[in-house]
Amino acid sequence: MDYKWWHSAVFYQIYPRSFADGNGDGIGDFIGMTQKIGYLKELGIDAIWLSPHFPSSNWDVGYDIKDYCDVAPEYGTLEDFKQFLAAAHQAGIKLILDLVANHTSDEHPWFVESRESRDNPKADWYVWADTPPNNWQSCFDGDAWTYCPQRDQYYYHFFMKQQPDLNWRNPEVINAMWQVVRFWLDLGVDGYRLDAIGTLYEDTDLTPHSLPYSLADVRKMEGDAITTEEQTKVSQVFGDLFKFQVGHPDVHDRMKELRLVLDEYNGDRMLVGEDENPDYLGNGQDELHLVFNFPMMRSDGPLTPMHIINNQTQRLSQLANVSSASWPCNTLGNHDSPRVYNRYGDGKHDAELARISIALMLTLKGTPFLYNGEEIGMTDLIIEDAGLLRDTMATWYYNEMVKDPKMDKLAAARKAGIRSRDKNRTPMQWNDEENAGFSAKGVTTWLPINPNFQNGINVASQENDPNSLLTFYKKMLRLRKNHPALKFGEYDLVPQGNEKVFCFTRAFQGNALLIAINFSASQQKVQFAGKNTRFRTIIFSSAQRAPNEVTKSELVLGSFEILLLGE
Ligand code: NOJ
Repeated sequence: MDYKWWHSAVFYQIYPRSFADGNGDGIGDFIGMTQKIGYLKELGIDAIWLSPHFPSSNWDVGYDIKDYCDVAPEYGTLEDFKQFLAAAHQAGIKLILDLVANHTSDEHPWFVESRESRDNPKADWYVWADTPPNNWQSCFDGDAWTYCPQRDQYYYHFFMKQQPDLNWRNPEVINAMWQVVRFWLDLGVDGYRLDAIGTLYEDTDLTPHSLPYSLADVRKMEGDAITTEEQTKVSQVFGDLFKFQVGHPDVHDRMKELRLVLDEYNGDRMLVGEDENPDYLGNGQDELHLVFNFPMMRSDGPLTPMHIINNQTQRLSQLANVSSASWPCNTLGNHDSPRVYNRYGDGKHDAELARISIALMLTLKGTPFLYNGEEIGMTDLIIEDAGLLRDTMATWYYNEMVKDPKMDKLAAARKAGIRSRDKNRTPMQWNDEENAGFSAKGVTTWLPINPNFQNGINVASQENDPNSLLTFYKKMLRLRKNHPALKFGEYDLVPQGNEKVFCFTRAFQGNALLIAINFSASQQKVQFAGKNTRFRTIIFSSAQRAPNEVTKSELVLGSFEILLLGE
């Protein structure tokens, strides 16, 4: 296999609004991010995925773009961007951007022109219809078709009405988007994370969904779902509601074209799709380089060995079926999902389970994507005041709930706060001073800061603490860097018949490691047989261990121990 930089890189997602505020306006920016490159280098990541940094109306915090070829004024200038890119490259860190291709902002000049009349040059750049042709829903705010008085027509939006869908059946749109792609590649960026690629095309027959539900009904079901069974049912309903709006096969042709654009550039630029469908890898050479292993994330409550084992078995075989060149890509957290620390915690052993989460990310086969703040154990902050929500999808949900006069407003606000993605987007916690070192003192930050920055959940408090989560992250990142088997090795399960233990090997050329993780608070035995008796050297243990404790046939793992053995 021909390994490229992104096969072995560890990616770190920066959510620019919440990373570091360099100019004291309460909002993160490029000056702040550039100042933190040293931190990222020291942390040991290899590449950054930057969430959208373009001028935006911020109905969807950057995912509603007004100008694809510029920088949001609150984040700085194009010059600031170039300096950030140069600083990252200087530090040996690659940078990929977010390409939001399905939709623009309704304030983008393309849409402003398109909505003017039925016959202007951009009239056909968006998806228009004389009357709503079906019952499709938007996944953020109710009906997917919104009336536009200027044209006396309706436009389609899979997301909010402020995010009209581009018409990807129009070659001019395709051309314009590939020019956008070139603009940033010409500046030297290393690739793209492709936002919501599955939504580019809709069913050509505009087939209506056949459910008796609206988005509001499904959100209500979601808010009321408590058991795993109920939650699974809601996800199925969600999937059925949108099945004619996502996953159209024509996306493949576009991905092939996009790949050709990238391949014109030197430096192995790469594409990672915000989708879990391995079909987007094409034949392994002609579409995307990576798609995310989202199924691994789907566990509310602690991850279990069984969940990971099943996931790996399915995922690796799905990928192998697509092509022998396909490569896994694992993640547990991002700006759309609850924080890893509480999502996979049990409320009692969260600190230990957070170490297991990062150990999994860095020892399983595939390219890992980490999310800013995960490394210090940031947690969700539920905003219970609907007026403070910035995630307008949650505001919409709140407004829907309170249409019911029987609905208690406080209860509705809490539900909206839980559903909102603001909870996992709060500012990065750099130290224990006022505003957590994110913004200068006295500044009001764009989202409230999680008060737990005062309790050691901040970079400065953890940096010099040998037992902190941050120190653990750094250790694990260094281990991965130093062991080719962790970067490139084949994965092989070492079955234990014990539901509390996950044991596997990674082997690459002459280098092999055995990884054993105890997911429980009690001691657990791990047994070796056959060729695995060769693993006797302790490379790393999260517990205190004397070097000679590993015998030929078995060992005992301590509470939540993470152990790496070499030959
Ligand atoms: C996926 C992004 O991750 C999410 O934050 C955004 O709201 C939607 N796509 C729409 O762009």
